[in-house]
Amino acid sequence: MKKLAITGGTPIRDKKKNPWPKWPVWDQAEERALLEVLHSGVWSYNGPKEIEFNKKFAAYIGSKYAICAANGTVTLQLALEACGIGVGDEVIVPGLTWQATAAAVLDVNATPILTDVDERTWCISPEEIRKNITPRTKAIIPVHLYGCMADMDAIKAIAEEHELIIIEDCAHKHGGEWNGKKAGSIGDIGSFSFQLSKTMTAGEGGALTTSSDELAEKLDALRNCGRRPENENAEADKGAGVYGDDGNFIQSGNFRITDFQASLLIEGLRRLPEQTDVREKNAAYLNNLLADVSGIEPMYHDPRETKKAFFNYSFRYNCDAFDGLPASKFRQALEAELGCTIESCYEPLNNCSLYRPHTKPARHNLGREYWQKIDPDRASLPVCEKVFADQAVCFHHLVLMDNQEAMDQIVQAIEKIREHTHELITLPEVV
Ligand SMILES: Cc1ncc(COP(=O)(O)O)c(C=O)c1O
Repeated sequence: MKKLAITGGTPIRDKKKNPWPKWPVWDQAEERALLEVLHSGVWSYNGPKEIEFNKKFAAYIGSKYAICAANGTVTLQLALEACGIGVGDEVIVPGLTWQATAAAVLDVNATPILTDVDERTWCISPEEIRKNITPRTKAIIPVHLYGCMADMDAIKAIAEEHELIIIEDCAHKHGGEWNGKKAGSIGDIGSFSFQLSKTMTAGEGGALTTSSDELAEKLDALRNCGRRPENENAEADKGAGVYGDDGNFIQSGNFRITDFQASLLIEGLRRLPEQTDVREKNAAYLNNLLADVSGIEPMYHDPRETKKAFFNYSFRYNCDAFDGLPASKFRQALEAELGCTIESCYEPLNNCSLYRPHTKPARHNLGREYWQKIDPDRASLPVCEKVFADQAVCFHHLVLMDNQEAMDQIVQAIEKIREHTHELITLPEVV
């Protein structure tokens, strides 16, 4: 029996001889694009690259508009503001997501309602959404988490029934499709992140997609200090209705990107379809293999997910098939065998070290009732907690950019660990 890498044995994959693909991906195309912006002197917002990217991204997503903003956190905040959501309103968000999804709701003074997820996909559960609807509910923010998609048919039906707005958090879902429609074109607004780990990146950055003229106009103004977007009606609209004499119409701050970022995004978008295909193919191959591995459950993919886009590759671990070996030790041993980072999922928001609304009383204590309502401890999220503590095994998408041999190694590493469970159980946990 070969010794485990975590106890000094030879790993299944030698990361020095056989490194994993690098992320981000770039070459002379990105160099040229950045230099073009440098030499143009148009470094700021609304430059030619941003205009080009917005057009291309909207066409790719299948929405009428795409509007860039500073990151995928403020895009959520601006989406809520554009929809007129604020004090007194409740917004249903999944309990299993990056904290930004809920923090954005707090930042418009509305109440995030942390809602449990579907154990098979880790995306918000339509049944749990229904339970959390009250007369104050104004919107739902489904997150298409990691490799899966939220059940958009069920969520749309609920939204129509209760007249709710849908803001899709697509930070993980550039190019994923539900019933032939891309994530970000299904709800009222799509919110994207271009932070470094994402499948399209400019280091930082974000974009909003919508097909509503009214929302697009507001979103554009909101990311740009409240300035009315430049268009052919701008002059005529000055002083009319909601627009001031100077043509500006909404109070806001600066949430813009630069043309350097936009130039990288144009190249990233060009690369995205092929990269998405590679990840989808490898994930399908690996899921197929893992379906036969005892104690490992591939994530459920609804047949309506017509194009799968992976930000993370995840599966569900069951310690019963590994002599009770805790998921945390399984992940550490797997990491040592494969030489790549392997983590649990996000911490559920009712106990997340980065989601602490009560640490900012000067901003969020809008009164006793509100203060109580935003207490994350109030949420009951048993599925999120179980997934985080006992099940989740998550790899960054760069693993899926390798070849089938690499996928085989993942399975080999799992089987190697199974042979050593007793030894691992007694081993102190690495922190
Ligand atoms: C689900 C989700 N929503 C929103 C964000 C926020 O994006 P950004 O980091 O660009 O602010 C992230 C970032 O990781 C995310 O994972």
